[in-house]
This record gives sequence, C-alpha cells and structure tokens, in this order.
Amino acid sequence: TTITFIQPDGAAREVVAKPGESGMQAATRAGVEGIIGECGGSCMCATCHVEVAPQDIGRLPPRDDIEQEMLESILTDVPEGSRLCCQIKLVPELDGLVLHVVEIAG
Ligand code: FES
Repeated sequence: TTITFIQPDGAAREVVAKPGESGMQAATRAGVEGIIGECGGSCMCATCHVEVAPQDIGRLPPRDDIEQEMLESILTDVPEGSRLCCQIKLVPELDGLVLHVVEIAG
C-alpha cells in the first residue's frame, strides 16, 4: 500500500506501508516531518494529525468516538478531512491515499 504524505513544507513523501501498519507508523518509520506519534498510537496526543485529501475522504471508515473527541479537544470546528492517522489502518484498498500533515502548533 503506497500512500503520500504532504509535509508542512509542501514536500510530498511517498511511503510504502507494511501490511497492518497505521498511517502514523508508516510516517514515523519513513521520517515524515510533522508526524510524531507521541502516544504510540493510542489516540491520546494528536501529534499524528492529518487532513485527508478531499478526493480521499470517502474512502476512509468514519472516526470512532475516541478519535472524534480527541479532534474536538484540539479544534473548535473539526473539518471533514481531519483525522488522527494512527487510527488509519493502511489496508490495500487505500493505495494512493493522500494525507496532508497538519503542523503541530506550539
Ligand atoms: Fe497519538 Fe495518533 S499517535 S493520537
């Protein structure tokens, strides 16, 4: 499964994900800038925040309650494409997915 991260500096990074990997795991392994994964993928830190490219939003399963609450705690309005990429499981169907890295404030 090959996906593309657009870094905060605008550079596109193509990452080949291993089976079962999350977006955050693939990004940190590849050293994508702006994805920290501080909490190790337990949906507690939001350092893996991304904006899904508009054309890909419909390809992802909806957020679960924990992801929703975490996003609501960092954003007043949660855009449709906002996701915590540790919660995105990179199944083969998501090949070609494009994720924009959201710069971490502060
Ligand atoms: Fe912490 Fe995703 S890695 S919320």
